Amino acid sequence: MPQATDKKSHAHAPRVEGEWGMPAGILVVDDEAAIRDLLSEGLRDMGYDCAVASNGFEALDHLKRRQFSLVLSDIDMPTMDGVKLLQTVREAYPDVEVVMITGVVDVEVALRAMRMGANDYLTKPFNLEEVRLTVENALEKRRLVKENREYQRNLEAKVEERTVELVLKRREIEDLYERLQVSYETTLEALAAALDTRDTETQGHSVRVSDYTVVIARRMGVEDPELTEIRRGALLHDVGKIGISDAVLRKPGKLSPEEWIEMRKHPEIGYRILSGIKFLEKSLPIVIAHQERYDGSGYPRGLKGEEIPLGARIFAVVDTLDAMTSDRPYRRALSYETARQEIIRNSGIQFDPSVVEVFLSIPPDDWKAVHGRNPDRRDPARAS
Ligand SMILES: [Fe+2]
Repeated sequence: MPQATDKKSHAHAPRVEGEWGMPAGILVVDDEAAIRDLLSEGLRDMGYDCAVASNGFEALDHLKRRQFSLVLSDIDMPTMDGVKLLQTVREAYPDVEVVMITGVVDVEVALRAMRMGANDYLTKPFNLEEVRLTVENALEKRRLVKENREYQRNLEAKVEERTVELVLKRREIEDLYERLQVSYETTLEALAAALDTRDTETQGHSVRVSDYTVVIARRMGVEDPELTEIRRGALLHDVGKIGISDAVLRKPGKLSPEEWIEMRKHPEIGYRILSGIKFLEKSLPIVIAHQERYDGSGYPRGLKGEEIPLGARIFAVVDTLDAMTSDRPYRRALSYETARQEIIRNSGIQFDPSVVEVFLSIPPDDWKAVHGRNPDRRDPARAS
């Protein structure tokens, strides 16, 4: 028989509270009225909100009607026993802890109940101090589990919130970067167009050769960011002509040896103008090497073969293509075929044969299409 001890010493002060600071609800289930009364009275004295049921079915009825934190259930009961009740509670009320009450002979059963999800078990006869400690432990465990779950849920919500914020920020940055790039490209193209305008022979030339360069570079497997670097180098190849006097740059006839010396400075001038611009750092090798020739007879450094950066080797071929197939003040544009023959003739001399090979593999219409996007602006108005 259970012994009622310590009955008054913990009255009205449950250590563990239920929901919203209310006393925790405990459902006592036992077919023996004496035990029900002893437990419910004892628990009420401890400050818990207690209800009683005499079998599993009655207990489920109570659970349907209101919230409990803990079920304290006998195992051996008629109609629905404690093990069956435990199973049902575990499935339908995962937040409710279950403590089993068992006779000494039922320890095996009690352990089985623990494996099935009971929080603890009390062995008859028990005293109320034991009950108090067992109930407090069970409720404390429940509180920690709930707290942990709540924390987990909050954390997940926070992570999700932060993730959304980060995605938005990232998009914003990408968008800004994109706009910056576009405005940067526009500025570079405006600069190139200004240069082309001064150099009357080469209207639209810079944008076209940069497009042509990209066509071949892509075919040779170059990808971004190198592709963009090469394109910018091709676009700005002649920026150093800013430092060449009009008298030399726009001289209609042939240049004297002294004038050639001045003219040949333009790759280095271009290099100096652009160095220090972080964005263009990797395009500089093309600017300085764009007048080099594959056989080493170019300038300013007389580089040979693959000493010349790939971008500059590609540029050399398309520069000739564009120069020949665009109108000049002293002649009309030559045919693609003429340019093609000239390029073949200079393969291995002025041009890298592997670049020439790729150039030849591209259908003439592709070149015409690129040319069409950036036509020689004097074309329509200019008389032959
Ligand atoms: Fe040049």
